[in-house]
Amino acid sequence: MNFLNRIFRAARNFLLIFGSAYLTAKLLEIFGHATASSLTTIGGFLLALYFGWDALTYKGVIKSSVADVKTDAANLKKLARGFDPEHYINLKKGIFLGLDGNRKPVYYPQHVIDKNHIEILGESGVGKSSLAGVLLSQLAAAGEAVVVFDPKPDRQLPGVLARMGEKYGYPVALIDLRPGNGPQLNPFHGCRPDQTEELLQVALDLGKTGDAGVDFYRGGDREATSWIAQAAEPGADIRELISVASQDERITEKENLWREIRQLGRVQALHTSHGLDLADALTRPGVVYVMGSTTRLEVVAAQKLILQRVLQLLEDRADQSRPVAMFLDELKYILSPAALRAAGTIRDRNAHLIFAHQSLGDLDDCPGLNPRAVRGAIWGNSGLKFVYKMLDAATARELEAITGQASAEVSSVTRSSQGESVSRRVEKQAHMPSHVFTHLPKPESGEASVGVIIGRGPAGFLSTRWLRSGPTPEPVIVPAPGAEPPPNADAPVTTLEDDQEHSDERQADPEDADAAQPAGPTPAPSATAADLSDLLRDLSRPR
Ligand SMILES: Nc1ncnc2c1ncn2[C@@H]1O[C@H](COP(=O)(O)OP(=O)(O)O)[C@@H](O)[C@H]1O
Ligand SMILES: [Mg+2]
Repeated sequence: MNFLNRIFRAARNFLLIFGSAYLTAKLLEIFGHATASSLTTIGGFLLALYFGWDALTYKGVIKSSVADVKTDAANLKKLARGFDPEHYINLKKGIFLGLDGNRKPVYYPQHVIDKNHIEILGESGVGKSSLAGVLLSQLAAAGEAVVVFDPKPDRQLPGVLARMGEKYGYPVALIDLRPGNGPQLNPFHGCRPDQTEELLQVALDLGKTGDAGVDFYRGGDREATSWIAQAAEPGADIRELISVASQDERITEKENLWREIRQLGRVQALHTSHGLDLADALTRPGVVYVMGSTTRLEVVAAQKLILQRVLQLLEDRADQSRPVAMFLDELKYILSPAALRAAGTIRDRNAHLIFAHQSLGDLDDCPGLNPRAVRGAIWGNSGLKFVYKMLDAATARELEAITGQASAEVSSVTRSSQGESVSRRVEKQAHMPSHVFTHLPKPESGEASVGVIIGRGPAGFLSTRWLRSGPTPEPVIVPAPGAEPPPNADAPVTTLEDDQEHSDERQADPEDADAAQPAGPTPAPSATAADLSDLLRDLSRPR
């Protein structure tokens, strides 16, 4: 702003303020308030002087929300002050997310949350799961069916959801797929043969790879899953499917498939013909919490299988009035090609996904999946993003690009022999430069997480925090046989004694440890003696 301009603004401010005060004083005088009139004249004069002087000496303000890294980092740290999210939860106002940059609570209408897939990004320990706890407990309290897939079992989240469940009256069912936990559900319950086939293909990663050599064998393996599904009784659980497979040489000859399917059979949580009814769970408010593993490959396979079963049930459900929220934590251990396709279609089924992962690199690192397809489905399909600290520069740059630009007044000073000249201009700058994402504070004890929320209006800061946790609930182990719900009349009956007998033997089997090693170029065991382990003998035993 040049000097003449400043004089003009100063004069304008002075005249407007003093003029208004003078007129008010005259009116007061007419009505006989002489003292008030004098006070108004003096007050108006002082105010006019102040605003006139302010305009004359105005030097411009650098408005960029992000002056530089040092000031930004210091300001962001101020947003980390702890608070109790429970205090703000009020379903009448919407779904509480956290506090904004002015420490005001942020509520989103439930339909906004439901109509978007949500992506939560940030390195480990920054607040992804704590935000999920705040969101999911409110969604369940608001009547949604919530399914959580947690492959890196979180210490707090099940307890948070359970405590909030007690408060808001929704049930929480915990499925623990890790070794040492008894029978809990049969994901094949109620499956048509084509669905059983699909579940096996997803669990065993039998999708096409684009590599002709690999795909040749996978094609054969896929065909074998259809033989198993056709030959099995409806509702057969994993042990019975293995038993069916063991009786067909065309299947046991496919060494890789046969070994992988037996490994899946080692997940004891699936050793029941009934257990938790997923179809029923999707028709009521509440949480199904599936706890898995990132290292036990058979557990990773079971996680994918259950996710696929939930997607099948959503596809088939006649009454779609109840929203279903699915949280996929540590995304890369859960995704399958079928789950990716579902991300594009599932919103039509009144279901929405919440993904958590660490950086875009994770999306390129999903075994067996095309990185571009994963990016398209997750990054491109999530209308709302919550971003916490990350040191991944490539992701930070992409976030900068999607948060857009803001106008900022920038001044520059030029010194010469004639003196100093200051020029100011308005420039477009990144609204959230990449350094913001790399310098968001990481929460220390008692502190809130500070993140950026993107997708509804201009991106803004958001502080979020853990809800208080209660005790972690026990897994839904199927009760003693007598108390188990009557099995499907068509399905072979499996007793719990059988289950325990198998699991005990399997735990004692030293081959199990080897079988749990990550799949790699390990030589396939021979299809004869070595391959026909104790497990096979037990499973193929006539019942
Ligand atoms: N009950 C709790 N109360 C407060 N802070 C907690 C609690 N439990 C964990 N934290 C801290 O909250 C932060 C965020 O944790 P979390 O949401 O699990 O991160 P992420 O899921 O991104 O790995 C961590 O620094 C963790 O130490
Ligand atoms: Mg987490």
